Amino acid sequence: MSGLAMTDRPAAGSLAPPELPISRPVPSRPVLIASNRGPVTFTRQDGQLVSQRGGGGLVTALTGALAGSGALWVASAMSDEDRQQAGRPRIPFEAGDSTFDLRFLAFDDDTYERYYNGIANSVLWFVHHYLWDMVRVPHFDERTRADWDAYRTVNEAFAATLANEGGRLMGSPAYLIQDYHLSLVPQMLRRRLPGARISHFSHIPFAGPTYISILPRWMREELLSGLLGADVVGFQADHWADNFLLACRTLPGTRVNLRHRLVLWEGREIRVRVYPVSIDAEAMDSQARTRVVARARRQLRRSLGTQRLILRVDRAELSKNILRGFLAFEELLITRPDWRGRVRLLACMDPSRGTIAEYRRYTRQCLLAAERINRTFATEGWRPIEVRLEEDQPALLAAFGLYDVLLVNPLFDGMNLVAKEGPVVNRRRGVLVLSSNAGAHAELGRYALTVNPFDVSETAEALVSALEMGGAERRRRARGLRAAVLRRRPESWIEEQVLDLDRLGP
Ligand code: G6P
Repeated sequence: MSGLAMTDRPAAGSLAPPELPISRPVPSRPVLIASNRGPVTFTRQDGQLVSQRGGGGLVTALTGALAGSGALWVASAMSDEDRQQAGRPRIPFEAGDSTFDLRFLAFDDDTYERYYNGIANSVLWFVHHYLWDMVRVPHFDERTRADWDAYRTVNEAFAATLANEGGRLMGSPAYLIQDYHLSLVPQMLRRRLPGARISHFSHIPFAGPTYISILPRWMREELLSGLLGADVVGFQADHWADNFLLACRTLPGTRVNLRHRLVLWEGREIRVRVYPVSIDAEAMDSQARTRVVARARRQLRRSLGTQRLILRVDRAELSKNILRGFLAFEELLITRPDWRGRVRLLACMDPSRGTIAEYRRYTRQCLLAAERINRTFATEGWRPIEVRLEEDQPALLAAFGLYDVLLVNPLFDGMNLVAKEGPVVNRRRGVLVLSSNAGAHAELGRYALTVNPFDVSETAEALVSALEMGGAERRRRARGLRAAVLRRRPESWIEEQVLDLDRLGP
């Protein structure tokens, strides 16, 4: 979910703050962040510069975590206006509690396309989410090499800017490099500043050692050694950290200590750590209490009547497993005809990566499956599946408030913030049906109904169990989920990373 800023005022009453540790450690050094997508993108309307919040899980996580930190954030220019702004060395920016400076890097269209769609979205995203249908794809050729050159160019530009900016600061900064777009930056930055304190964090899964061997050897080795330029390599969950360590074993010259999560490489010791990202629950709660959301909630409640609501909220993204989710719902309607007419599946799909053919095809397939299921089962006054292909934040928060079951069944997912957002906003003791392959499963699994995302029948059964679960058990699980989410403050995610760098020395 995108966490768009809302202007409507919150109604009275707000979420009780999570239990906080008595003293809050304050990061001791300036922070420099680098990510492909920045926290905002600019457009010009009627001559005025207008900023719009960037989408995606990374931005949601980081803006929450940056509250009051005064960091510098370096990102790629996305719009024409961003490119204009790229001339400015620092753009001061405020978002809620967060104040930071922003710096855009502009690239020519061909370089950016090759780096972003050619490599980041079509190779790295696919390998780390296990998305290839391997009989036919991928095949790597000259084009891949040209795309990789562009990937290097963009990563070099980030490293050069960070080195420049960091060099001007008082004290040794913490360089926090984000995600698969910038896998080579740690090593490139290390070459420029051998003593720098660098961490790299992957918001997505990391491919296991066998699957990652699909990549050409030169690419895999450059990728791994790029990441090993960092002092600390961070992941959302144990599983991805372990995969990374196992993959490092395939890199000649490394020594890997799985137990202590250390890699010895070129005379340095690299720590592999897990920092589960959290959400800004208080902000979500006050957004959910605004009048505009209350209105959307009333509307949805009226339209549901006595029907129960199964909700899913995803980017229209291959890894989210939307299609099998629909098929599981269909199986529920077949095996349990008594639920026909009494339950509705609402799928909120945020259009994503429409420039990639595979994504367009997948979105179409999902829509066709929903239509087919509706044609088969719909009766007068009841449509089993409603798909909303738009971003409507108040409607989304209203649906979060009213679901009976939240279905989060990704194939593989670094964390999945929807699994955390839903339980914080929900008012119906809704049950979470959660994929064992979502990073969020480590924190939330004991309060959720766990499913293997490939097992459609198991998912259908879990949906039935969730719908038929008794009140006491629903309450226990809903409380557990909420407490598990509130346990971690969003800011501690960055604080822990900076503190880990501090422990390594100045
Ligand atoms: C998701 C992932 C992030 C990733 C982002 C990229 O939100 O969780 O880790 O950085 O996608 O999305 P984009 O739209 O910028 O390609």
